[in-house]
Amino acid sequence: MKKILLVLLTLIFFCIAAVAVNAVDFDSDMTIQLKINSPVMLVNNEEKSIDENGTVPVILNSRTLLPVRAVVEEIGGSVEWNADTRTVELQSGDNNIKLEIDSTTAYLNNEPHTLDAPPTIIGGRTMLPIRFIAEGFGLEVNWDSAEQTITLVKGSDVQSESASSTEAVTEATTAEEATAQNDGNILVVYFSATNNTKGVAEKIAEAAGADIYAITPAVPYTSADLDYNTECRANKEQNDDSARPEISGTVENMDKYDTVFIGYPIWWGQAPKIMYTFMESYDFSGKTVIPFCTSGSSPIGSSAENMQSLASGADWLDGRRFSAGASSDDVSAWVRSLGLD
Ligand SMILES: Cc1cc2nc3c(=O)[nH]c(=O)nc-3n(C[C@H](O)[C@H](O)[C@H](O)COP(=O)(O)O)c2cc1C
Repeated sequence: MKKILLVLLTLIFFCIAAVAVNAVDFDSDMTIQLKINSPVMLVNNEEKSIDENGTVPVILNSRTLLPVRAVVEEIGGSVEWNADTRTVELQSGDNNIKLEIDSTTAYLNNEPHTLDAPPTIIGGRTMLPIRFIAEGFGLEVNWDSAEQTITLVKGSDVQSESASSTEAVTEATTAEEATAQNDGNILVVYFSATNNTKGVAEKIAEAAGADIYAITPAVPYTSADLDYNTECRANKEQNDDSARPEISGTVENMDKYDTVFIGYPIWWGQAPKIMYTFMESYDFSGKTVIPFCTSGSSPIGSSAENMQSLASGADWLDGRRFSAGASSDDVSAWVRSLGLD
């Protein structure tokens, strides 16, 4: 009788152990795939919304920013936001990360580190560069520039995945590096003072599988600068033939792009003068250039011809005006109609 009981207990133990081992394996092997400009992530191939607000991962000035809460919670961690100090504290297992909005100093287990790009808030969501979290929490990062996807691998998957993706991880750990190295040959450049053109530019980049670059004014435009019913800065620049507002930063590897979309808002029927600064800073000969704009109602009109005169040697295609709320369907139909590779 004792023997039977012993055998039964042993069997029960092994059953429980097997279930527990499976549970641990399941928990520790995880792949999360995010796509630039997509509000859906794949967690172990299951589709999940990043959040209820439709937050999307973005590349801003060649920096990849992710909505951290969704990712950290998926890997079993927690996120605490302190609005007073504008700090974020992330915890996963024994690892603790502290970040401050707009600060390039971050702390991993109380050790200070310098970030490539500071955390930022977009549309009320905390977004931060992927590398720091990935390294801090032991995740592998694989960036696919053609698909514009970021794959995070946690747990024992890291062993097998990293074997196949070591090259990608070491060569292109972050999208900012990949942007400089990828094989894509299409770039979407845009200037946007109030984000209308930005929205269209992001849809074009998604439809064309293109890299994206925001023209950032060295001196940002305030709302007073844009108040076109007054003698505002924007009006003064538009009325000054020699105005060339300074740009902060440059496009890395402009040479590798053979197709460049150029987007801007219409200001008094024309492209803002900062677009002229941009056009005069690069050599467009041999490139296909496609202008696009947003406006209250004005067509793209002569704004495109005036930009074309600054791109000698380019194959200049007809441009297109979009309204601020252009749909993804409209934008991608236009991109498809261009017949790009
Ligand atoms: C200084 C200024 C001048 C503008 N001039 C025009 C115009 O001539 N025609 C028009 O339809 N919209 C005009 N607009 C509206 C913008 O073109 C429109 O809001 C655009 O979508 C803004 O794009 P953004 O958010 O990317 O900056 C003007 C806006 C500003 C600030």
